[in-house]
Amino acid sequence: MRERFRVVGGANLVGEVAVVGAKNSALKLMAVALLAVGRTTLTNVPAIADVTIMAELLRRLGVGVDYDAAAGTVILDVPERIGHRADYELVRALRASISVLGPLVARVGEADVAVPGGDAIGSRGLDLHAAGLEALGAEVHVTHGYLVATAPNGLHGAEIRLDFPSVGATENILTASVLARGTTTIDNVAKEPEIVDIAEMLGSMGAKVEGAGTSRITVSGVDSLSPCEHSVVPDRIAAGTWAFAAATTRGDIEIVGGVADHLRAPLGALERAGCHVETTDRGFRVSAKGRTVRAFDVATLPYPGFPTDLQPFALTCNAVAEGSAMITENLFEARFRTVQELARLGADAQVDGHHVMIHGVPILSGAPVESSDIRSGAALVLAGLVAEGDTLVSGVHHIDRGYPRFEEALRSLGADVTREPDDAPFE
Ligand code: UD1
Repeated sequence: MRERFRVVGGANLVGEVAVVGAKNSALKLMAVALLAVGRTTLTNVPAIADVTIMAELLRRLGVGVDYDAAAGTVILDVPERIGHRADYELVRALRASISVLGPLVARVGEADVAVPGGDAIGSRGLDLHAAGLEALGAEVHVTHGYLVATAPNGLHGAEIRLDFPSVGATENILTASVLARGTTTIDNVAKEPEIVDIAEMLGSMGAKVEGAGTSRITVSGVDSLSPCEHSVVPDRIAAGTWAFAAATTRGDIEIVGGVADHLRAPLGALERAGCHVETTDRGFRVSAKGRTVRAFDVATLPYPGFPTDLQPFALTCNAVAEGSAMITENLFEARFRTVQELARLGADAQVDGHHVMIHGVPILSGAPVESSDIRSGAALVLAGLVAEGDTLVSGVHHIDRGYPRFEEALRSLGADVTREPDDAPFE
C-alpha cells in the first residue's frame, strides 16, 4: 500500500532523539562477513527494509541470516562454500548490494554482480571498482548486464590510486585486498567514518589494514579471516538530519548516540548560521530556539567535506533562513530534485547547473509534494513543519529506507506528523 505523511506546519522540535547504526555501514559490513567462514554478529543495526534486502541477497549466496530488527542484531552464518551471483532483481532494489563484489572475488575467486540501473540521484559508474580489482589481478568484464570478476588463482597486492575518492570503490578494493598475496596500497581513498568502520571490523577478523580514515590505506594480505562481533558506527547522516531539524524549526534537539566529530562541516555551517552546537555526554545538541538562523552557503565534497546526503537539508533550512545562499552539489549531478518540490511549498530557489541560489522566505506554504529519494523525502517533511497548513509528502517508502519510524521520532519532539494511505486519484 502506498503511504504518505501528513505534516502539520508550525512546530519547534524540542527534546531528544536517538540515532543507531548507519545504514551505509551496516549493509557493507554484512557483505564483509562473507570473508570469514563461521558466525559473525553485527549489533546496532538499524531497523530498515534495506537490511532485509541485503539479508535476502546473502541468503541466496548460501549464508544463514538471522535479522532481529527490534534488537538491532544480524547474525550471519557463512558456510565454507558460498555462491557468487548477485541478481539484478536485488541489486536494482538495493544499490549497496555491489559491496559483495570485493568479498566474493577474494573468497570465491569469482563474482557476478548485476550492474545497478540509474537511480534517482544521478548516474554512478563502477569504473573505479573494476580498475581496482584488475590491478589486484582479477579479470573484469561486463556481460548481459552483469559485472563479472574472476581471479581463479587468487588476487595479489598492488599499488592503486583512485582518480576520485569513491566510497564504494574504496570499499570493494579494500575488501578484495585483505586476502590477496602481498601488500596493497590504495591512494586517494574515501575517508568516511563508514570506511573506518569496515577497516575496524576487518581488523577484528584478523586482517592487516592501516591508514583507514586517511587518504592512503595499506593492506598486508593474510591467508584467512575469522568471524567476529562488531557494532555498527552511528549514522552520521541521520544525526545530521536531526541537527538540521533543530535549525530549520528553530528548535532544540539532543541527538543521543550522534558523533559530532563526524559532522564537523555541517555543524560548522549551522554554527555560522547562528545555531548553538554543543557536545554532551550522550551525543550532541543543536539549538536554534529563539534565534535568527542566517542563510549559509554549502558546497558538497567527499568526507570530511559537507556530505551530499545532507544537501537537501541545507536547502530546506535555507528556504526559511534570513538572507540568500548558494548551494553547490559537487558529487552527483541530478541531486536537486528537492528544489522543485520545495518551490511547490513556496521556496524561492533557482537551479543553475550544479548550483542552487536560494533566498529565504519567512514561512512556506503547505502543499502535496513527492519524495524522490530517502534524503529529499525527509527534507520535505522538515519543510512541511515550517509551512503554513498541511503538507502531504508522498513516497514514504523512500523515507522508511533511511529513517526507522521517522514520524514517531518527530512526534516525540512535538511535531504533528501522521502516516496515512496515499489515495492520490491520478496515479
Ligand atoms: C555512497 C553512499 C551515498 C553517498 C555517496 C557519497 C552508500 C550505499 N551510498 O555512495 O549515500 O551519497 O557515497 O558520499 O554507501 N564514481 C565513478 N566511478 C566509480 C565510482 C564512483 O565515477 O567507479 C563517481 C560517481 O558517479 C559519483 C562519485 O563518484 O559521482 C561518488 O560516488 P561514490 O563515492 O562511489 O558513492 P557511492 O559509494 O555510490
